[in-house]
Parts: sequence; structure tokens; C-alpha cells
Amino acid sequence: MPALVLLGAQWGDEGKGKATDLLGGSVDYVVRYQGGNNAGHTVVVGDQKYALHLLPSGILSPGCTPVIGNGVVVDPSVLFSELSGLNERGVDTSKLLISGNAHIITPYNVTVDKVTERFLGKRKIGTTGRGIGPTYADKINRVGIRVQDLYDESILTQKVEAALDVKNQMLTKFYNRRAIAVDQVVEELLGYADKLAPYVADTVLVLNQALDDDKVVLFEGGQGTLLDIDHGTYPFVTSSNPTAGGACTGAGVGPTRISRVIGILKAYTTRVGAGPFPTELFDEDGEALRRIGGERGVTTGRDRRCGWFDAVIARYATRVNGLTDFFLTKLDVLTGWEQIPVCVAYEIDGKRVEELPYSQSDFHHAKPVYEMLPGWSEDISKAKTFSDLPKNAQAYVKALEEMSGAPISAIGVGPGRDETIEINSFL
Ligand code: GDP
Ligand code: IMO
Ligand code: MG
Repeated sequence: MPALVLLGAQWGDEGKGKATDLLGGSVDYVVRYQGGNNAGHTVVVGDQKYALHLLPSGILSPGCTPVIGNGVVVDPSVLFSELSGLNERGVDTSKLLISGNAHIITPYNVTVDKVTERFLGKRKIGTTGRGIGPTYADKINRVGIRVQDLYDESILTQKVEAALDVKNQMLTKFYNRRAIAVDQVVEELLGYADKLAPYVADTVLVLNQALDDDKVVLFEGGQGTLLDIDHGTYPFVTSSNPTAGGACTGAGVGPTRISRVIGILKAYTTRVGAGPFPTELFDEDGEALRRIGGERGVTTGRDRRCGWFDAVIARYATRVNGLTDFFLTKLDVLTGWEQIPVCVAYEIDGKRVEELPYSQSDFHHAKPVYEMLPGWSEDISKAKTFSDLPKNAQAYVKALEEMSGAPISAIGVGPGRDETIEINSFL
């Protein structure tokens, strides 16, 4: 059996945590392949609500082995506080595996993230301030610290020295901050080594052997397609590849292993942080979506920017990820609108454009072209099958499916595990 990828089809916060948790009971491994604790994945199980940042959402399914792949950046302090938080609530986390090749978010990476954003002022990205970008920058610059480096003090010291050489110049001379002491960083990092050791594994080997043994492996993306460093709205993106290809590099499995790529798609659109967002609403409809949808960031507590569904973006996500299915979430939030606008194309400099423009300048000017779809007023949160939905809700789903280019195989009608309509099985 196959490997599946589950990823965000918009700007993140589509409901990936809920969808992963839903499948977690039926899969053997859930793997995070990129990002770090910039993610905030909410999982609601019965009356219990969990907010996961770094750990794969599969950690809540007892039969499932959660894996942090080589492509993830790991802040050890966050890791241990998340683990102990779950342990206190009775969740067994002992099966967790962490790649020895994953990079460590060091305290200086967090500092650099914060000072850089402050310096950018009005031009800031609106990062989560968790050190994500600077850690990936160190990785690409070949001065990153990997999990395995914690087990060789001399190598670790050399690497921290190399990394801080330039950074301390920058921090003291340019940003007017205090230099960071090598010894202090090394001591802090070494302090995590023993606690981390039971989890560290050759996850590439483990996952490929699992696939050889017909186990089911689910790759859980953080962030979303439009936040991808290559395919997103650069520079207003995160510093990794949440898109499907990222699962291969970030976990060490070949593309031929992956049989299904599921895009999580919110029935409207949200975004956190800066950057273009054609269907963004600044009126009472935007406020209503934020209020009804509870659109507040899980990681930073920032209000999410809200807007109508954008089919141009959904089509783009289908294309760059090779999506085989969509999981449409939060349809229940749209209950009560008489008419629901859906963006079917853009108008850019007076011309109608059907596909996402590759030029960011054009995208910044894109004005949504809306089609109005009839709404519904019935409560849909108890719907179990597609035919339980009111006719107009069915038509809304069908219209989105047609515009977006892949079948909608599940629909979320509430935050809970069982508040889901399954149309086609994922497994
Ligand atoms: P993620 O980052 O993609 O995992 O998404 P977040 O957890 O940041 O945000 C999604 C929010 O929507 C969470 O509060 C979920 O509990 C909630 N949610 C997920 N699916 C549904 C749904 O179908 N309906 C409703 N009303 N809420 C949902
Ligand atoms: P989940 O997994 C929404 C956004 C930040 C910022 C940009 C860069 O919960 O969907 P970073 O700290 O990654 O360098 O910030 O990316 N961002 C997210 N937005 N959901 C997320 O994760 C995000 N992770 C990062 O707001 O605009
Ligand atoms: Mg989130």
C-alpha cells in the first residue's frame, strides 16, 4: 500500500491537522516533511482540543508512528514542551521518530528572525518569529546544525562557531544587539542530547522499509501551497516546500512511492501575515467569516485575513501538486449567506486572466472576478452523507470541484473528527 501526501492548497490553516488526525487511525506512519513550529494544527477529539506545532498530527492515534523527517527544522525546547504537554494529557508519545538529518532551530536563529523582521519595518513578511527562515538559510549556506551534531561536541562547537562568526558581526555592528556566546549555545544544545536520543533514527530507511512492507505512510504538510518558497507568493512565503515534491526531499522517499496527493481546501480563503490576497474582504462579510470560522492563528494568536473562495488558486494547487483529491473543510461556516461569491478568474490591467499569473507584480494587481452561487440556511453540521446537505450546499461543492480540477473526496462540516462527510475513501 501506498504513500499519501496531505497538504494545504491555499495559504495554510485549511484544516490539515483535523484531516491528518482523521486518517491517522488507519495509517501506520504520519510524517512531517518540512516546516517547523511555525505550523499550528488543531485537532479536536471528542471534547478535547489539541494544538500541535511541531509534532505530526498522527501522534494522537495510538497505532500510528509519528515521524519528523529530515526536511523539518526542530526547536528542541518546543519539542519537549509539546511532548510533555501531551504526556500530561495521557497521550503516549514514545513511538516518535526524529531524523538525525533534521536541522535544529538554535536560539540565534530565533533572534535573527526577530531582528530581521523588525528591521524590515513596513516591508516585513509577518513571520511567526520562530526562527524558521534563518534556520533554513543556515541549512542552504551549509552552516546549519543537525540533530546528529548534538552527539559530537567537538563538531558541534566548530559548527556553532562557524555559524556565529558572521552572525555576531551582523548582530553587533548592524543590528546593534549583543553578541551571542558560542559556549552558551553549545551548552544549551548539548543539554538536549540525552533526552532527544531515544527518538533519533534513520527515518529514511525506516520509511522506505515500511513502504516495502506494504505499510501505509501519510505525509503531513505544514503551511500551504501559496506559502511554498518556490511556488508561493514569494517573498511572502515560508522558507520550505510544503508542496507535494517537498514530501520526497523532506522524507527521503521517491516520487514513484506516492499514489495519492490530497489538497486540503477551505470553503473560503484565509491568510496570516503579509502578502497579496486577491479575494480578501475588509467589510462585515470578512468579519463574519473570521468570527464564525474562529479564524485566529493557532501559533501567534493573530487574526487571520479572510476572503471568499478563490478557484484560480485551487486550480494552481491542483497543478503544482498533482492533486488527486480535495478535502473541503469548513463548509459549515458558510451557512447563512444568501449568496456566496466565488472568484473564478482575475482581472489584471483590464484583461480577464484564468490562471495564476507567474509575475508577482501582476498578482498584486489581480482583482477577483466573482460568480454568485446561491447559499443555504439549514444547519449542516450533522450531515453524514453528501445527500444530507441542502441542494444549494451540494451545488456549491460541485461548482468548486468543477472549477478546482480534482474531485472533492471529503467535506468538513465541523471541527470534530466525526464532523466529516466521506465521499471517496482515501485508503
Ligand atoms: P491547519 O494548520 O491546516 O491544521 O489548520 P488550523 O488548525 O490552523 O485551522 C483550522 C481550524 O478550523 C481549526 O480551528 C480546526 O479545528 C477548524 N476546523 C477544521 N475543519 C473544520 C470544519 O470542517 N468546520 C469547522 N467549523 N472547523 C473546522
Ligand atoms: P499551518 O501549518 C498560516 C506564514 C507566516 C508568514 C509566512 C512566513 O498552521 O498552516 P515563517 O515563520 O514560516 O517564516 O513565516 O508564513 N505561516 C503560516 N500561515 N499557517 C501556517 O502554518 C503558517 N506557517 C507560516 O504567517 O506570513
Ligand atoms: Mg494552522
